[in-house]
Amino acid sequence: MCGIVGYVGKQKASPFILEGLKRLEYRGYDSTGVAILQGGAFSLVKKTGRVANLEREVAKFNLNGTFGIGHTRWATHGGVTDANAHPHVSSDGKIALIHNGVIENYSSMKKFLVSKGYTFSSETDTEVLCNLIAYHYAKEPEVVGENRFFASVRKTLLHAEGTYGIVTMCVDLPGEMVAARKGSPLILGLGDGENIVASDVSAIVARTQNVVYLKDGEIVRLTPKEFQITTLDQEAVSPFVDKVTWSIADAELGAHAHFMEKEIFEQPLALENSMRGRFSEDSSTANFGGLNLTASELRQVDRFMFCACGTAWHACLVTEHLIERFARLPVEVDYASEFRYRNSPLDRNTLFFVMSQSGETIDTLAALREAQRKGYRVLAINNVVGSTIAREANGGIYQHVGPEIGVASTKAFTSQILLGAMLALYIARLRDMSFSDGVTYVNALKGAPDLVREALKQAPHIKAIAKRFAHHSDFLFLGRLSLFPLALEGALKLKEISYIHAEGYPAAEMKHGPIALISEKCPSVFFAPKGEIFNKVVSSMQEIKARKGPVIAIITEGCELPPGLADEVITIPDCHEAVLPIVAAIPVQLLSYYIAVDRGCDVDKPRNLAKSVTVE
Ligand code: M6R
Repeated sequence: MCGIVGYVGKQKASPFILEGLKRLEYRGYDSTGVAILQGGAFSLVKKTGRVANLEREVAKFNLNGTFGIGHTRWATHGGVTDANAHPHVSSDGKIALIHNGVIENYSSMKKFLVSKGYTFSSETDTEVLCNLIAYHYAKEPEVVGENRFFASVRKTLLHAEGTYGIVTMCVDLPGEMVAARKGSPLILGLGDGENIVASDVSAIVARTQNVVYLKDGEIVRLTPKEFQITTLDQEAVSPFVDKVTWSIADAELGAHAHFMEKEIFEQPLALENSMRGRFSEDSSTANFGGLNLTASELRQVDRFMFCACGTAWHACLVTEHLIERFARLPVEVDYASEFRYRNSPLDRNTLFFVMSQSGETIDTLAALREAQRKGYRVLAINNVVGSTIAREANGGIYQHVGPEIGVASTKAFTSQILLGAMLALYIARLRDMSFSDGVTYVNALKGAPDLVREALKQAPHIKAIAKRFAHHSDFLFLGRLSLFPLALEGALKLKEISYIHAEGYPAAEMKHGPIALISEKCPSVFFAPKGEIFNKVVSSMQEIKARKGPVIAIITEGCELPPGLADEVITIPDCHEAVLPIVAAIPVQLLSYYIAVDRGCDVDKPRNLAKSVTVE
């Protein structure tokens, strides 16, 4: 939540910062602002709404300075107003600050500062932090070996409880910035005569691919030509300079209307990238060197635990089904936000996984830390390289699907299912899956990108269905077995981007309650693939139809429905069980996308949401 960018360099800071904010806007988009240090003072422009509003406002000012900070906000403390937007400037005008996170003890700090004569123009915890830095800066004499500004930031952060990624500037020190993190991501971009600090690499790659991922508890002093990282306890840190492997073009819309559309259609390629180099030479199993576990260690595992949030949690549910089905081992899946407080009993031979596209979701991170605290090795399935979860996990699997920018997760979801299916295969082959079943499974997974390409050809048909049903205000999504999580995912996609009430249920469970919702005003989307449960799902459809509920049936090729049962039919390719949930995701992603577009919703930036949820 919240995107932050700081720039110290030789070029005009504001265009670069605005560009960076546009790329970070998916992180939060209530309000935005920039502060540029020029002519011995901060020029501050803040505006509610999107970066485009800020850009129009900035154009009215002459912002020529080459040092500045910018912020795009997802409100926590205080409503969405110009005053609450960041950057905040201390009441003495000395310090400017941007912040991502929540300062939990801000009210006691504020009381103290008010008693010292500091005044506040916003309701935010950030302004309190900013004034506390100003207080220490005004009060403390120069600290030996540290400049006074840096010392005052460090001192302030030692008092701060909660989470933060901050970047701050002092009016007396043009060309210098201090940034620090605890619980919110911050990345340094090392340029030629310029340095950048931002919430993620998308705001940096336009200028440099050399980055340093800051760790929790680290603080950095930046100038255009150098940077020094220490811990808050003043231990020196030797930075590891990483290279970003994707370019700015990967984070651009191209010919698509929305990132969500781009990411839906990118899925064949994303799946190819996720599986590349991860099958054995004999094509009978998967290879996951990053798990850091030997085959014999994996054979000791007798239970799996998966934790995640949102769409990633749905991918865990599919993985549960596949591991249980093919590797015959029990799997438990929990919401990360529940696991972290639930004190669940785990036995020693449990292998713990977290799944997270961003690798920054605070609840998932907390679940990882809680499991590690209890002595478990935690592995992560994660997309963003260098993210906090990737760094803190004891091993894992990178998704390699490139940046996912649409708030509604699509390509990350199908890649997580693919990797879950590959994991199921890997474990199954270490146990009792035969060589020939392994080869069949691998060939099926290798065919997934083409099957997804085939399913995507249904887009025009699904667009027409979306038009027909876009005005409805309630939907049910129903599926069984590995497609029950797809029903949950279909409902989540629809509600998050089109604001339509939708529920996902196991198809047969529908008659235990949700059937009361059924009328001609509440369409049901059914997953009815070929196989043992096809006839059972058809019976559930009949029950809906008997109550005048419209039925949208997603069937696999070769299935036949009784005439007149479904109002609309979407046919996807028939495929192996391990691939089916991937292919079945396509129609529900497209349906929710086209419904949202038809309703005129802001698909990539739905209201109240943010791409990565870094607050509890
Ligand atoms: O980055 P993560 O995978 O940890 O994110 C988890 C959820 O916040 C995320 O999947 C959310 O539910 C998406 N908006 C769903 O489209």
